[in-house]
Amino acid sequence: MSEIIGLMKERAAQCAEEIRKHSSIHVVSHIDADGLTSAGIICTALDRMGTDYSTRFVKQLDDTIIAELAEQDHELVIFTDLGSGMLESIRSHAINAIVADHHQPRGEMQNHLNPHLFGANGSYELSGSGTTYILANALGDNRDLADLAIVGAMGDLQHMKKGYLTGINRLILEEGASSNVLKFEKDITLFGKQTRPVFKLLQFASDPYIPGLTGSEDACIEFLHKQGIRFSGDERWRRWIDLEKDEKQKVVSGLVQYCLNAGLASYKIERLIGEVYILLKEGEGTEMRDASEYSTLLNATARYDHADIGLAVCMGDRGDEYDQACKLLAEHRKNLVDGLMFVKEQGLTKLKNLQYFDAGSSIRETIVGIIAGMSTSITNDRSLPIIAFANTDDGIKVSARGTQDLIRKGLNLSEAMSKISAEVGGAGGGHDIAAGATIPIVAKDEFIGKLDAMIGMQIRKQI
Ligand code: C5P
Ligand code: C5P
Ligand code: ZN
Repeated sequence: MSEIIGLMKERAAQCAEEIRKHSSIHVVSHIDADGLTSAGIICTALDRMGTDYSTRFVKQLDDTIIAELAEQDHELVIFTDLGSGMLESIRSHAINAIVADHHQPRGEMQNHLNPHLFGANGSYELSGSGTTYILANALGDNRDLADLAIVGAMGDLQHMKKGYLTGINRLILEEGASSNVLKFEKDITLFGKQTRPVFKLLQFASDPYIPGLTGSEDACIEFLHKQGIRFSGDERWRRWIDLEKDEKQKVVSGLVQYCLNAGLASYKIERLIGEVYILLKEGEGTEMRDASEYSTLLNATARYDHADIGLAVCMGDRGDEYDQACKLLAEHRKNLVDGLMFVKEQGLTKLKNLQYFDAGSSIRETIVGIIAGMSTSITNDRSLPIIAFANTDDGIKVSARGTQDLIRKGLNLSEAMSKISAEVGGAGGGHDIAAGATIPIVAKDEFIGKLDAMIGMQIRKQI
């Protein structure tokens, strides 16, 4: 890993040299937590150098947007958390570009920084924000931004493979820990430890989904009472961070027992405990203190056309923009719960090599991928990848999510989505384990048939 990071630093130094030649830079990034933290990192680094910059956030980078960027005639464009799939197009439009990304690359470019080029896997060993962190540290000492790099990695669920961050992500984590920006510890993984009353952690548990508790406030309160967890003195529920160590232990062991009794698979129960990442510069009890909560806060902005708010938070705003982000978060959380309920009610249609649901207009296309990922907690069939469809203005959005077991068998969703979407007149890409595409409305049936066949070929090719 140290050899890989050495090579990446060399490439980053080459990119930094180009950046230093310019006094005005356009940053283009992705509309999710990883994209926002990437932009937050590079814009802070540019600020510190006194370089002017402008930003643009996009759902995905396509030829139309690249043509627009070429038209705008920027001195230099830095693409973060996207670009690696569109290198030929960027080059053919003669855009002076730096690409700091972690998606599977297609084509070649000189100033291209991507872990895949150096033998690391961009699905779980380094995020877009981690890649951008390496670039930012070639521009100056920006090691204090390690926290944003970790928030981006969590936003992309890069810790899911092992239950903790690995690869270059881990090196960044350790750098952040040694400069007291971050700390990591084992804890319950349920969402909302910093900010929500304890029963809400259980009530909104989606990974794993806990039958009998998830969705039922009364059952969760009763469960906590049984474990001897009481109201605090002022009759208000305490948050997870307010509980004593032995109380936390009681809840965890009670929960494990509950899940065993409910017949939950052991791999699901294991996911209750994992490594969690604490941002030491942030106030206790705020969304930004916990990397996972922070990433959800950011997704709540950028995936709803408010990337500007998320970027402001990444760059330190804790006033108006932060308040706005909190309001958007409440909406986002509700949409996730509603989306998951939709899938639960509608169910998944199984084909030979995949299972899918069509959300139509019931789930926003920018979050249907998150819900597809969360759906693993409500289906008992992990042997098939999950494909989700949602309507968009310009066709149908497709999101695909796989598992590590399927990857080991040969599944590569990025390859499948990119190839099959192109065959039906769309475009797509992403990671082996999580990919997306946009396709024409009329092509849906053809697409699903071809995708089923291609996934079948992938997972049968290897043992
Ligand atoms: O474009 P981007 O890389 O940011 O997309 C990341 C998405 O892929 C996340 O929403 C996450 O749900 C999914 N993902 C995943 N498991 C991984 C990597 C990414 O589910 N190991
Ligand atoms: O949108 P979703 O979360 O499903 O995206 C999963 C992955 O697929 C992301 O890494 C995203 O950047 C990628 N993707 C893509 N082209 C698309 C849609 C998504 O490369 N048209
Ligand atoms: Zn990313």
